[in-house]
Amino acid sequence: MTDNKNEPISAHEAVYFIFGATGDLARRKLFPALYSLYREGKLGERFAIVGLARRPRTNDQFRDDVHESIQEFCRYKPSEKEAWNAFVEHFTYQSLDIGNVEAFKQLKAHTEEIEKSYDIPGNRLFYLALAPELFGNVSRNLRDGGMLESKGWHRLVIEKPFGYDYPSAERLNEEIRQVFREEAVFRIDHYLGKEMVQNIEVIRLSNAFFEPLWNNNHIANVQITLAETVGVEERGAYYNKSGALRDMVQNHMLQMLTMIAMEPPSRLDAEDIRDEKVKVLRSVRNLSSLDEIGENIVRGQYSEGSSRGKELKGYRQEDSVDPNSVTETFFAARLFVDNFRWAGVPFYVRTGKRLPVKSTEIVIEFKNVPNNVLFAKRQNLSPNLLVIRVNPMEGIYIRFNAKKPGNDMTVQPVAMEFCQSCQVGLNTPEAYERLIFDAARGDHTYFTRWDELAVAWKLIDPIAAAWRENEGKDLQFYPAGSWGPEKSEDLLTREGFHWWPVNGQDEDNVIWVSNTSK
Ligand code: BG6
Repeated sequence: MTDNKNEPISAHEAVYFIFGATGDLARRKLFPALYSLYREGKLGERFAIVGLARRPRTNDQFRDDVHESIQEFCRYKPSEKEAWNAFVEHFTYQSLDIGNVEAFKQLKAHTEEIEKSYDIPGNRLFYLALAPELFGNVSRNLRDGGMLESKGWHRLVIEKPFGYDYPSAERLNEEIRQVFREEAVFRIDHYLGKEMVQNIEVIRLSNAFFEPLWNNNHIANVQITLAETVGVEERGAYYNKSGALRDMVQNHMLQMLTMIAMEPPSRLDAEDIRDEKVKVLRSVRNLSSLDEIGENIVRGQYSEGSSRGKELKGYRQEDSVDPNSVTETFFAARLFVDNFRWAGVPFYVRTGKRLPVKSTEIVIEFKNVPNNVLFAKRQNLSPNLLVIRVNPMEGIYIRFNAKKPGNDMTVQPVAMEFCQSCQVGLNTPEAYERLIFDAARGDHTYFTRWDELAVAWKLIDPIAAAWRENEGKDLQFYPAGSWGPEKSEDLLTREGFHWWPVNGQDEDNVIWVSNTSK
């Protein structure tokens, strides 16, 4: 079968097959990621990349496409001619009908030639930048076409959506598993490749002033916001079926929540970490009845609006969107993780398209000091916050109380920020770079395991079912460019909380100390 564990694990010495090589993902993310890895010496010299798609293309045309993609999207620009040629000669292109096993046999012959010329010991990584309906077919044809017979390892890298609900995800998984063992499958959630999502573990577990407080004795609530300014762009047909629930919550939002809430693993190895993440997902309280959902979830859809002086269409006016669509472009929820560490702590999550800013942030709000003593007796103290900035700014800040300079004992909030992206500049590796590198090294830590995915779907399915049942009666409209339906505030005000402003904006009373010029 696959993934021969006795073979040395190496990021080098492999052939990378990019299925869907003429598509958007390859152009925007995969070629740039491969180039950055190459520039940083992480691919070595004994590697080859085979682009595959139905469209006929010569090697030269393909190499030109790769050049354009890197010029436009990569954090490194193409190097001088000679160095560039040395890189791009690793790329070849094969037009492939993925339904035809004979084509895979030809691919095998082509691959063996390449492996010989680069002295690659048969390690093969198959990146399927394709629609998930094709995963099963491609896997079978890889096997039947003899592509999995070489001596080295064989790994399959796939992208969401992994199904539409639990039953379809299970079917998809079964198809893949007939060919690839779980250990050979790398399911990408690109949020797990983000620097600051990976940093959550370090911030939590390596700091004496956070680790002991990381529980319901000290944390009042957690807020996770993933705000986007874009609408559905040209993805109306896909999005109208998926909505924010399947597009963002089932994967990115739940992944961030598990990274915050998981127990420290006993070892920092992939399986121990993923075991802990599954336990969190199993502890998330299931919301299934219409009443529970009405009380804890807000779904919204953007209507016409404006942002920065630009008029914006409503979702129903977007291309390929049904004009009566009840698909949600905004989702907010109050979730609970019912275990000893987190009992009683609300996790508020929200995500939406056409919001005022592009920003992903996680706010940990700490409980107040007793309000009948010392300073709290005299004034309203602000809670302490730890804010993890995930995207596009990367960094953290903490907000605490200090004395306002002067003679009276006035207390004032102060924020101290470490802006990571400002430090390292634009050169922090992109999520796809880390993930491709990890897959090539055989490190599963930041990939979604099947049982994780299964539990996530089981949380999502009852919500989708209840929404189907009420036919969009609870859908709230919000003007494009706003922060979503007002009802999403009510989720928090009930408990005396509010959404903290993203980017710390609008907070005039806070004094900032930062390594940026804020
Ligand atoms: C993708 C979603 O998974 O994540 C998109 O399909 C969304 O709808 C994107 O725009 C957001 O990713 P990022 O990294 O830009 O926050």
